[in-house]
Amino acid sequence: MNKKSIMNKLIEHYIQSHKKSKALFKESSQYLIIGGSHNLRFFAPFPFYDVFCSGSKVTDIDGNTYIDFWQGHFANILGHNPKIVLDTLLEYFKKGEGLATGFPGIYQKELAQLILKRIDADKIRFTTSGTLASMYAIMLSKAFTKRDLVMKVGGGWHGSQPFLLKGISIYKQGLNQLESAGLPIGIDSSIIMTKFNDIEDLEEKFRKYGERIACLIVEPFMGAGGFIFGHKKYIQRARELTSRFKTLLILDEVVSGLRFHAGSIQTLYGIKSDLSVFGKAIGGGMPVSAIAGKNDIMALCSPEAKPDEKVKFEGGTFSAHPASLFAGITFIKYLMEHENEIYPKIGHLGAKVRKGIQEVFSTYGFNVKCTGYGDNITKHSSLIGVHFLHEHIDRITSPDQVWNPEVCDCEIREKVFKLAMLEEGFNIFHGYGAISYAHTESEIQASLDAVERIVKKWHKYNLHLSKP
Ligand SMILES: Cc1ncc(COP(=O)(O)O)c(C=O)c1O
Repeated sequence: MNKKSIMNKLIEHYIQSHKKSKALFKESSQYLIIGGSHNLRFFAPFPFYDVFCSGSKVTDIDGNTYIDFWQGHFANILGHNPKIVLDTLLEYFKKGEGLATGFPGIYQKELAQLILKRIDADKIRFTTSGTLASMYAIMLSKAFTKRDLVMKVGGGWHGSQPFLLKGISIYKQGLNQLESAGLPIGIDSSIIMTKFNDIEDLEEKFRKYGERIACLIVEPFMGAGGFIFGHKKYIQRARELTSRFKTLLILDEVVSGLRFHAGSIQTLYGIKSDLSVFGKAIGGGMPVSAIAGKNDIMALCSPEAKPDEKVKFEGGTFSAHPASLFAGITFIKYLMEHENEIYPKIGHLGAKVRKGIQEVFSTYGFNVKCTGYGDNITKHSSLIGVHFLHEHIDRITSPDQVWNPEVCDCEIREKVFKLAMLEEGFNIFHGYGAISYAHTESEIQASLDAVERIVKKWHKYNLHLSKP
């Protein structure tokens, strides 16, 4: 059986067991593009619609329950709807507080303090999404340096904002093309691309453009680009070069912040960025994001900044929303207080999954490699990417491999394996996804048993990972 016929069989089964979701998708699509408001939440033939999420599980409108490794775009470190956050929010709402008021409130200071405890930065400003936070970080860096070029890494995803929609996942002779229509004229030439974990390429780009580059923005742990840690030497070299060329180093910690310990990942690399961007987990399930940085850069968003230097980072009806701040404070405090239990547990389960998946695929002759190995950065990596390879590669070290169809079969990962795991009762993303503190050892073992059943079937069907 080839990939297509396996896929068709899986789709047939999926449709049979998701009749209500199918109907809701059809109805929703009359009012919403692809039945929803986020393209990543869609998958073919239609997504299932959740009605209840708790801990490790999600139940859909048809009554199917899945063990979930998507976990709120990888933000839910304690699992879905953790009681600790819900209880605190309920109490807060019962007191008659929690909705937006348009006043500064008493909680911003506390969340800022908590984050600044674990990252070497002077000031923080809150906004509502990782996208906005990365956009403001770019504006601050351009204003501060009075330079126009922005350097980003191929495969880097920083949200859908106009300064960075280049070289994300479309691989046409490399990750270096604009990936959206509707962008400002001339934006293509103002974004310089460099390759992740490639020190030589970084040095060459700095030699060529260094004095014109306002900032280098990089995820020290690459999220959407394949769950890959920046090598220590690479991230440290990025720090040295940016300092030497007076370019700002922006570390996007939207995924990595609070994921590997109750703080930022940059401290594990032993470096300090000029600006850092946080999102996802810092709101404990509510929408909060933040930019943290040095005093003199952050001061550019003050009303007192010089008019020709002032960055209009000041909107946001829902910025620093009280309920979000309250949830974030509760969540981060809990992570800090239970750091020694949470991170070793989820890291141990992550390691078990990476090892288990690679071994079982290898036993049946498939060349499959996992990413998310913490290497010498952290022992506690709970994120797992799974990559179906055409070529023999020992390790995946860059999104340039992940998105190159000559190297990896993304269709198998995102479509076939996804549906196969759903059929087994597991919702995965990018080949597996995020382990939360709510997942149990037996759920993790059950997911590995499911992978084994799938691989055995594929072996029996004589499936080959053929090049496009
Ligand atoms: C590294 C990174 N930065 C920024 C963003 C954008 O965040 P948001 O979706 O909250 O706008 C994301 C989202 O996935 C991300 O992974």
